[in-house]
Amino acid sequence: MSDQPVTERRNFYGRVHGKTLRASQKGYLAEDLGKVRLQGVSVEDNPGRVPLNTAGLFGGRPLWLEVGFGGGEHLVHMAARYQEVGIIGCEPFVNGVAMLLGKIRAAGVENLAIHPGDVRDLFDVLPAASVAKCFLNYPDPWPKARHHRRRFVTQGYLGALARVMAPGAEFRVATDIPDYVRQTLEEVPGAGFDLVAQAGAGGAWEDWLSTRYEQKALREGRSPHYLTFRRKG
Ligand SMILES: C[S@@+](CC[C@H](N)C(=O)[O-])C[C@H]1O[C@@H](n2cnc3c(N)ncnc32)[C@H](O)[C@@H]1O
Repeated sequence: MSDQPVTERRNFYGRVHGKTLRASQKGYLAEDLGKVRLQGVSVEDNPGRVPLNTAGLFGGRPLWLEVGFGGGEHLVHMAARYQEVGIIGCEPFVNGVAMLLGKIRAAGVENLAIHPGDVRDLFDVLPAASVAKCFLNYPDPWPKARHHRRRFVTQGYLGALARVMAPGAEFRVATDIPDYVRQTLEEVPGAGFDLVAQAGAGGAWEDWLSTRYEQKALREGRSPHYLTFRRKG
């Protein structure tokens, strides 16, 4: 197994490689990625874009999704806490995938699967209304105005997310960037979601686990914002 990410047919502007992987991380990728990697997501794997059989994925358990799991701490925490659901995580940054695999080994959780690539490839093949909850934690901020269209909270991503989310499904967004809050509040309702709750520092969800990027934001003096939406239906 190579440590190269899946080749994407879409433009992806983020990083897919960081520091040289440690030998242990290369070992996780070689030995463990194949066991948790979702089949039939990448274009190479599924050129006909045949929908995934999500009902059969986790023995019929409700399906949750985390977009851009980074080092995977929140994803593993949720999988351990909610054994009655199955969670898919997406992350194109290979160092993050390797970190997650180490955490999966340590926690021994089995109710998760990953796509080590762009979430848009997953959106192509998820059946409509198949996702019961979605987490978007500290998405890439793209601070320059001319790059705002690369943000996740734009109609291209949000329309695809809305299609795969079940009526009433929860969509959580955490960010430390005030302008990202602004764009989220402007764009997400237009994609078919109602705002349910909005909180600042100290107002995280009861089951929240602070992520690496949240810790970095706090160290650098920025405040978290937690937004909760519900898919109309
Ligand atoms: C700022 S980091 C936050 C990571 C983690 N959620 C946290 O809170 O520590 C944003 C992550 O989103 C990932 N990402 C960006 N675009 C993505 C996409 N189209 N599909 C999946 N993940 C994406 C990036 O690779 C990056 O790891």
